[in-house]
Amino acid sequence: MIVFPENFLWGGATAANQYEGAYNEDGKGLSVQDVMPNGIMTPRTEEPTEDNLKLKGIDFYHRYKDDVKLFAEMGFKVYRTSIAWSRIFPKGDETEPNEAGLQFYDDLFDELLKYGIEPLVTLSHYETPLHLAEAYDGWTNHQLIEFYGRYSRTVFERYKDKVKYWLTFNEINSIFNAPLMSGGINTPKEELSQQDLWQAVHHELVASALATKIGKEINPDFQIGCMVLAMPAYPMTPNPKDVLAARHFENENYLFSDIHVRGEYPGYAKRYMREHGIELAIADGELELMKEHTVDFISFSYYMSTTQAHNPEGYSSGEGNIMGGLINPHLDASEWGWQIDPIGLRIVLNDFWNRYQKPLFIVENGLGAKDELVEDENGNLTVMDQYRIDYMNDHLYQVGEAIADGVELMGYTSWGCIDLVSASTAQMSKRYGFIYVDRNDDGSGSLERYKKQSFGWYKDVIATNGASL
Ligand code: BG6
Repeated sequence: MIVFPENFLWGGATAANQYEGAYNEDGKGLSVQDVMPNGIMTPRTEEPTEDNLKLKGIDFYHRYKDDVKLFAEMGFKVYRTSIAWSRIFPKGDETEPNEAGLQFYDDLFDELLKYGIEPLVTLSHYETPLHLAEAYDGWTNHQLIEFYGRYSRTVFERYKDKVKYWLTFNEINSIFNAPLMSGGINTPKEELSQQDLWQAVHHELVASALATKIGKEINPDFQIGCMVLAMPAYPMTPNPKDVLAARHFENENYLFSDIHVRGEYPGYAKRYMREHGIELAIADGELELMKEHTVDFISFSYYMSTTQAHNPEGYSSGEGNIMGGLINPHLDASEWGWQIDPIGLRIVLNDFWNRYQKPLFIVENGLGAKDELVEDENGNLTVMDQYRIDYMNDHLYQVGEAIADGVELMGYTSWGCIDLVSASTAQMSKRYGFIYVDRNDDGSGSLERYKKQSFGWYKDVIATNGASL
């Protein structure tokens, strides 16, 4: 039998830019997402365009009270969302924050706390203020550290008695693959030098340490974590060269958690930079800052594993969560080609735990699928999403196995607990939620909410602390 720890933090996860809407209300400035109508697939637009579903999202900004009530009905203990940086500092480089933006999150956190739901807040989730992308080229610029520091200080001070759990950057390791979305870097990916990209990585890592320092000064009880896109890599064959290829892939991801946890660049990263002519500009005190202000816990998203070979020719490439890989013949895939691998989650949990012995937190996991609204036996509209229940049940079962293996896990927040706009494809039809939102890819729909079959299933999982799995 699977046993989850007492006080395990069950809940759901979202990000401001994918569901709030109200993209230009109450003083909010534009973010990079407001000019990315097609996700990471195509280049940005000059201005926000009507086909961009994120501008309206699922209108959470105006409907949050009803939505939080549904989260409470499921029994959520924790709720992960992000603060839209451009609601607080519309351009990103101002010195005074936007009070209306701050007030919105005060109201949201109060609403969550009213039901005993702990907020878990991401400071930067793919929504850098657009002005910082256009005027500074995002995180390639050293000044972003100062702006992010000011933003972090502002929200830490404001919410110090309401929010205990914080994440500094969502999937910080995705910057190599999605520089605009992840790093606010306006220079097109094809034109971006390795030097600039690694410099941006360095700036984000320094900023993360700075935020950790500031946060702990403001409230020593804060729990501040990093957040990485986790993707265990399997070798395509037992050929040691394939094994090494898989290790190299993993190192690109470990680099970020290694620095957040151990506070220094690992040898394999130094070697890579040396061999590729990358020379980081490191300001006085930055290495010490990173060394001294490491994270309390490691959080991560997990959707799939990847398979790597030293010579990928002759194998088929698969789709994937920002990073791809080769198709693993032992795994099925979602409708979007993401390979489904519950055991990979147990593996990644054990890998992180064995590497760091720091508490872990799964802050994203779930199945993006097309759902159909149908009538149930009582005439109510619902979605019969047994496929989602199966996916989550299988993954949570492996989470239980990892806990039995000795992994210390703080909680689990499933991704997109209410349907929202996809990050990679900017579609509404790629749904993850327990709650269906009536909105379509062409923007039509009433925005009404409907409980899916999985709603009751997750409610039982939480009520029994996982015993129903
Ligand atoms: C993660 C992101 O990459 O995966 C989320 O942190 C995203 O923002 C999620 O929504 C699922 O990806 P997608 O592309 O299906 O929305």
